[in-house]
Amino acid sequence: MTDQLAPETPVQERATALRISDLVKSYGDAIAVRGVSLDLAEGGILALLGPSGCGKTTILRMIAGFAEPDSGSVTLNGRDITRLAPEKRNAAMVFQSYALFPHMTVAENVGYGLKLRKVPRAERETRVWDALRLVRLEQFGKRYPSELSGGQQQRTALARAIATRPDLLLLDEPFGALDQNLREAMQIELRKLQESLGLATVIVTHDQQEAMILADRIAVVHDGRIEQLSPPAELYDHPRTRFVAEFMGVENILDAALSEGALTIGGTRLAAEEPPVGAVPGRTGACSVAVRAEAIGLTAAGTPGVLGRIGYGTNLGGRVLYEVTLADGQVVRVSEQRAAGRPTRPVGEEVSLQFDPRSLTVLEAAA
Ligand SMILES: Nc1ncnc2c1ncn2[C@@H]1O[C@H](COP(=O)(O)OP(=O)(O)O)[C@@H](O)[C@H]1O
Ligand SMILES: [Mg+2]
Repeated sequence: MTDQLAPETPVQERATALRISDLVKSYGDAIAVRGVSLDLAEGGILALLGPSGCGKTTILRMIAGFAEPDSGSVTLNGRDITRLAPEKRNAAMVFQSYALFPHMTVAENVGYGLKLRKVPRAERETRVWDALRLVRLEQFGKRYPSELSGGQQQRTALARAIATRPDLLLLDEPFGALDQNLREAMQIELRKLQESLGLATVIVTHDQQEAMILADRIAVVHDGRIEQLSPPAELYDHPRTRFVAEFMGVENILDAALSEGALTIGGTRLAAEEPPVGAVPGRTGACSVAVRAEAIGLTAAGTPGVLGRIGYGTNLGGRVLYEVTLADGQVVRVSEQRAAGRPTRPVGEEVSLQFDPRSLTVLEAAA
């Protein structure tokens, strides 16, 4: 297993643990993965995020050795493992279904991979109980999987993976079978465990919030390709394509015009000290701009900003979401903190919207 890393070592200064280069995989005529490359630093945790069927599991299975790529390579700690059998890779995978053996006790399940690897019995015992302690299941070693809750089964699968002391942990939708409360608790537990072990981890999920909680980098996968690879906050604030913006739940993709590094929205040119993200030098003309509802200011008409009219207001609890129609007819979703005692703005009220150019992203032009 990787030595525990000092938590203060910035991820970008750590050695590369996993490198995948230009992986391609097809099933018959259908191409599942179309040339995927990425690096993962020691101790880093990367999420493969995307909708069902985009190729996430196939990428993970090629890293684990359960699927053979048509082309491309997988390197772990400098060693080419592309064509190596799964048990020779020092990578451990937790399957979506957990894949526990029903006729084996929890301890036997956790020790299974060690037995396969011919680890001697005494050493096996130590590692099994160490792993069970790490996931707080030491009281449950003699039970059978059917006698465990969903969360305990999930922790058993995790213990089985870490008992092999892998260099790389691979998790395929590990919390998919758990209810929401338990899922959040397990996500935080996994993150703490991963950090304390300093274990390079790849997690597959279709849930953007799960990816945000767990990962220090997120690769958004779309139709067999990585469409954007960014830290969570960057991905949230600045999705680079329409697909990523929509998948990340950005409320607004607006029509705008770009000239000399400044944007015009709803007929008003936005003053900016520097060009917005995505406004590559030389790009001018019509463009699409992504902006979150919470990033837009809303004030009474007459204050500087883009003029609009309230079309609809919905109380979301702590915030109110408004649909505001601009002079050019397009509708902007804006959310405003709900002030105690102040009524929701009435339909038809004229308002002014403030767009901070730093919270806008000019989307890549469609190919
Ligand atoms: N063993 C297989 N045989 C045939 N097609 C497969 C196989 N595994 C995956 N696919 C296809 O490859 C594509 C990607 O699947 P998968 O990697 O499982 O996506 P995800 O995990 O993102 O939901 C899908 O179209 C799926 O139907
Ligand atoms: Mg999958």
